[in-house]
Amino acid sequence: MALFDPPMSMLMTEVAVAAGRLAEAGVESPRADAELMAAHRHGVARSQLNLVADTDFDPRYWDDVGRRAAREPLQHITGIAYFRYLDLEVGPGVFVPRPETEVMTGWAIGQLTAMDVAEPVVADLGTGSGAIALAIAQEVPRARVHAIEADPLARSWAERNLARCAAAAPHIAGRLSLHGDDFAAALGEMDGRVDLVISNPPYIPVDASLPPEVSEYEPSAALFSGADGLDAIRVVERVARRLLRPGGLVAVEHGAPQGAAVYWVFAEENGWSQTRNHTDLAGRDRFVTATWA
Ligand SMILES: C[S@@+](CC[C@H](N)C(=O)[O-])C[C@H]1O[C@@H](n2cnc3c(N)ncnc32)[C@H](O)[C@@H]1O
Repeated sequence: MALFDPPMSMLMTEVAVAAGRLAEAGVESPRADAELMAAHRHGVARSQLNLVADTDFDPRYWDDVGRRAAREPLQHITGIAYFRYLDLEVGPGVFVPRPETEVMTGWAIGQLTAMDVAEPVVADLGTGSGAIALAIAQEVPRARVHAIEADPLARSWAERNLARCAAAAPHIAGRLSLHGDDFAAALGEMDGRVDLVISNPPYIPVDASLPPEVSEYEPSAALFSGADGLDAIRVVERVARRLLRPGGLVAVEHGAPQGAAVYWVFAEENGWSQTRNHTDLAGRDRFVTATWA
């Protein structure tokens, strides 16, 4: 038996009710989302929610809960997505970066850190919010990173995040360039000179059914890619072939069921070696890497 059970604060009581409402609405992680929105709304860390005085409870929290119950993404409500060591601004028109992409980015950062090249050149194809490119620029300060994004609205988020991150780490500004191009034709002047190509391209088959957070709020250019979902990945393979120097590396993210299909996109007969499947933190096939022979 507990010797002393302090009374639950008003905020913690509201959070418990909110979590129930989110669960009823079909939200995947209702308690975590209820707590994260409460922390954001009250300007405290999640671990300090119980310290918010009852008199400081902000009733606008229930507007946030209503939006999340309508299946608006958590990150659109808070305006922030966490990606590795970065806080990125996100909202309508840009893909919310996902934890599985952090794993692929970590792989690339490990390879670049170990690479015996003074200033490795990196191309991030389809940069969206700038997540991958900014994380690499932050964690591998000697890298020169080129971030490509065709969609002007998504690119405006990347520009904002570049300015935000460069304010905190000024070296980033001079090491990362943002290009408003279709990645199929991007960086022609760098053919054969890039050390690492990385991409989280659209890879969802056009007829897939998706949760409302994705189907109603993510830009379709970030999601869909032909009948089997592999159209953009095939383009990434061709672009990587063109851009990479001999021995250069490619990493491309895909959906969990696409591991075998993507493996064969980077086949030996196309000039690739050491093609490997990698899993995400949940153990699902999630990205393929290969070396340009
Ligand atoms: C799945 S999102 C990934 C965004 C970001 N890299 C991330 O991991 O969070 C794919 C991005 O690629 C962009 N994109 C799709 N096709 C493109 C193309 N052909 N050229 C340039 N960008 C493209 C989309 O606009 C979208 O921002």
